[in-house]
Amino acid sequence: EDAAHQARFDARIDADGRIEPRDWMPAAYRKTLVRQISQHAHSEIVGMLPEGNWISRAPSLKRKAILLAKVQDEGGHGLYLYSAAETLGTSRAEMLDGLHSGRAKYSSIFNYPTLSWADVGVIGWLVDGAAIMNQIPLCRCSYGPYARAMVRVCKEESFHQRQGYESLLVQMQGTQAQRDMVQDAVNRYWWKCLAMFGPPDADSPHSGQAMRWGIKRFSNDDLRQKFVDATVPQARVLGVTLPDPDLKWNEARGQHDYGAIDWDEFWQVVNGHGPMNRERLATRVKAHEDGAWVREAAAAHAVKQAQRNLK
Ligand code: ACO
Repeated sequence: EDAAHQARFDARIDADGRIEPRDWMPAAYRKTLVRQISQHAHSEIVGMLPEGNWISRAPSLKRKAILLAKVQDEGGHGLYLYSAAETLGTSRAEMLDGLHSGRAKYSSIFNYPTLSWADVGVIGWLVDGAAIMNQIPLCRCSYGPYARAMVRVCKEESFHQRQGYESLLVQMQGTQAQRDMVQDAVNRYWWKCLAMFGPPDADSPHSGQAMRWGIKRFSNDDLRQKFVDATVPQARVLGVTLPDPDLKWNEARGQHDYGAIDWDEFWQVVNGHGPMNRERLATRVKAHEDGAWVREAAAAHAVKQAQRNLK
């Protein structure tokens, strides 16, 4: 019977159809999705922290309102994604435990500090820009709940990217000190954003199978290249230099060449040894513990509601 299930699943995947929560699916497909979606959810939640640090220091009411909305959106994306992962039979408590114990991964990019206000703009422009490049194809992911969640997430990410770019445009029209601050933030974030797309295809253990299953639609290197090509003209308009002497248009390929990414540093960070890993996790764990009374109150309220409904 399993063979028949497998054949039906394969046919659906080959026809580019969607797999839904109650459909039969191979255990490895389920496992890969739980891994990717939960890592993605954790990234959204931890991703609130670097920018959250700047909410109380935003330079104007307008910037503060934008930043508050954006950070709140990221929290919403995290909850959305945990729900999508839950449809695969893993509880939210299990996923959160993975994050809080340091077992689960989340995006490397959030383990770097936000040193100046320009970092907030650069995170919008480059980090959210990279995130969109990676997430638009996930709207066509073979797993229905993940694909549908990505549609809304991408719309909001697009707003995040634009607000960051616009903030930087304004700063670049300011004083020399402001322009220097933007350039410094670009210098610190550029290479980290290229690494966000994940290891080179040859060193990416999950890519082959994930692409055959229609979970990933483009390889890590292909998305990285698209991001470089899309960002170069934006940097020119902004008036900043991307910190890579090897970055140049390659006429023959019709794409940009770029320099070597420091993969040793990437793996250090992924394995918990980045500049902010400890602090990010400690902040998350504390927020979870401080929120215990809210969860208890909500659970007590639900019990009371249920009892009232019985009467
Ligand atoms: N940061 C941390 N870990 C990473 C990163 C990264 N930037 N890139 C890859 N890894 C991890 C993978 O999770 C995997 O670890 P695991 O085997 O322990 O699960 C390992 O490195 C090997 O990588 P791949 O084989 O390339 O893994 P995968 O096929 O899952 O591709 C990718 C990685 C591209 C990040 C994919 O999981 C994905 O598209 N995820 C959804 C998007 C996402 O999570 N975005 C989060 C950041 S954007 C934001 O939140 C604003």
